[in-house]
Parts: sequence; structure tokens; C-alpha cells
Amino acid sequence: MNNKTLAIIKPDAVGNGFTGKIMDRIISSGFSIKAARLLHLSREQAERFYEVHKERPFYQDLVDFMTSGPCMPMALEKENAVAEFRQLIGATNPVEAAEGTIRKDFAESVQNNAVHGSDSDKNSEKEIAFFFSSNEILN
Ligand code: CMP
Repeated sequence: MNNKTLAIIKPDAVGNGFTGKIMDRIISSGFSIKAARLLHLSREQAERFYEVHKERPFYQDLVDFMTSGPCMPMALEKENAVAEFRQLIGATNPVEAAEGTIRKDFAESVQNNAVHGSDSDKNSEKEIAFFFSSNEILN
């Protein structure tokens, strides 16, 4: 099992001033932040990151949203990080997210849903490498 996951605080949450509150939830839930960066994704980066959704009807809107302002990718570490983080953030659609989850409390809509979390160990490795080189990740 890989103990890391990629999180992104998305442009809606950064723009709404929730970055600190979301980082606090993450840390108080037992995750260590091993790398973090504030950046404004280019269209090419957003298209590449979400390439798996290319055929979905929401793809272009998703790319527009992810390039609409700065976001904060982070490499997080905790035992069973992928599953634990997905539990902390809640369902993709905030209307369906459980009480106390990050999306329930900070997301605006199914698209503007405040945070991203990797969906598998294989993808977490790939997604962390998308944003961070190995010498930018704390041991
Ligand atoms: P994320 O976990 O980053 O993975 C894919 C993203 O696509 C998702 O969060 C949402 O931001 C977006 N998304 C997923 N489903 C829909 C949908 N039905 N309509 C609009 N956006 C969606």
C-alpha cells in the first residue's frame, strides 16, 4: 500500500478564502503535508491532468474551472492515504457529501467541489509526479 495521495485545493476554495481552513482540516485529520505549491494551471496542464475525463460532457467546463484561478496541489502522507483522504473530502457532489466532510462544508457544486483527491494508489503516484519532482517531496 502506498501511503501518499495527491490533494488539490481547487480554484473555488482558494478564491473563497478557504485554503487555511481546508489545510487545518487535513492536518487535524492526521495527514502530513510533504509538498505544497500555489499555482495557476495552464490550459495545457489542466487538460493533461484531467485527460481521463476527455470524453465526458463536462470536460471543457472542468478545464475552464481549473484554469480560472490559482489552486494548491499537495502531496499528503498518512497510512492508507488514498482511502482516508477520500473519506475526509466526501462525495464528488457536495449535495451527497456526508456531514463534516470538506466538500459538504466548502464546495459550491459538483464541478466547483473545493478539493481533489486521488482515486487509487496507482493514480496517486502518477498525480504526485505530475506536480512535484522527488526532491520537492519531504522524506
Ligand atoms: P475530481 O475529484 O477532481 O475529479 C474529476 C472532476 O470533474 C470532479 O472532481 C469534479 O470537479 C468534476 N466533475 C465530476 N463529475 C461532474 C459532473 N457530473 N458535472 C460537472 N463536473 C463534474
